[in-house]
Amino acid sequence: MTAKISVWDIWIRMGHWAVVAAIAFQWFSGEDLGLIDAHATVGILLFGWVLFRVIWGFAGPKYARFAQFAPKSVTAPFESARALVTATPEPTPGHTVIGGLGVFILLTLIALAALTGMASSDDIFFDGPLVSLLSNEWVELASRAHPRVTDLLLIVAGLHVLAIAWHQLIMKEPLLAGMWHGKKPGHGHTPGQPPANSRMVWLRGFVFLMLCLGGAYGLFGIAIGW
Ligand code: HEM
Ligand code: HEM
Repeated sequence: MTAKISVWDIWIRMGHWAVVAAIAFQWFSGEDLGLIDAHATVGILLFGWVLFRVIWGFAGPKYARFAQFAPKSVTAPFESARALVTATPEPTPGHTVIGGLGVFILLTLIALAALTGMASSDDIFFDGPLVSLLSNEWVELASRAHPRVTDLLLIVAGLHVLAIAWHQLIMKEPLLAGMWHGKKPGHGHTPGQPPANSRMVWLRGFVFLMLCLGGAYGLFGIAIGW
C-alpha cells in the first residue's frame, strides 16, 4: 500500500453525494405532478452543478482537472477498459481513463436531462422555462426525449456503481473511502499545488459553486421562470 495523498476536494465529494441524492429525488418526483415545482428546481440546480464541474475541470485541483483523465490516445480507453475487466490496478490516484470517460458521459447526460426537462411541456399543468423560447416541434421533441435521456442516465449510473463495486470488492481498491474523506493511495504521485484539501481550493470552489448554482437558478428559475 502506497502513502495516501489528498485527491478529491470537499466540493467534488459533497457535490457527488448531493448529486446522488438529487437524482434519486428526481426519479420519484418526475412521476408526481404535485412535486413538479420541486422537480424542476432540483433539475435546474443539477444543471448548475454540471456547470461548476466543467469549470472545476479546468480551474480545480490537480486530480479534478479533465487533463488528468482525458484519453491521451485513441487506444487509451481500450487499454484502460482491458485493465478493468482483467482486474489489473492502474497506478493513478485520480480517475482511470475508462472511469474518466464514464464521468464525461454522466455529466453530459445530467446536463441533457436538465435541458430536455426545461424544454418539456405536458400541455396541461406544466411548461418548463425554455418552452416559451422554443418552437412546438422542439418542445415536442424535448418532452419525448426527457424520459428516454433519464432512463439512459439511470443505466449509465448503474454501470458506474457496478464498476465502483468491482474496484472495491474484487480489485481491493479503496475508492469509496476516497470519495468520503478525499484521500487515496498516491502510487508515488504528488498531490498538486494547491493541494485538494487546502483553504485556497475550499474558497475557490465555494465561489465558483455559488456562482454556478445561483446563476442557473437565477436565469432558468427566476428570470425566465415557469
Ligand atoms: C446517480 C448516481 C451517480 C452519479 C450521477 C454519479 C456520478 C459520479 C461522477 C460524476 C463522478 C466523478 C467525480 C468527479 O470527478 O467529479 C463519480 C465518482 C465516484 N462515484 Fe459516483 N455517481 C453516482 C452514484 C454513485 C454511487 C451510488 C456510489 C457508491 C456506491 C458512487 C461512488 C463513486 C466513487 C467511489 C467515485 C470516485 C471514483 C474514483 O475514485 O475514481 N457513485 N460519480
Ligand atoms: C437531471 C435532471 C433531471 C432528471 C434526472 C429528471 C428525471 C425525470 C424522470 C425520471 C421523469 C419521469 C419520466 C417518466 O414519466 O418516465 C421526469 C419527468 C418530468 N420532468 Fe424531469 N428530470 C430532470 C430535470 C427536469 C427539469 C429541470 C425539468 C423542468 C424544469 C423537468 C421536468 C419534468 C416534467 C415536466 C416531467 C413530466 C413529463 C414527462 O414525463 O416528460 N425535469 N423527469
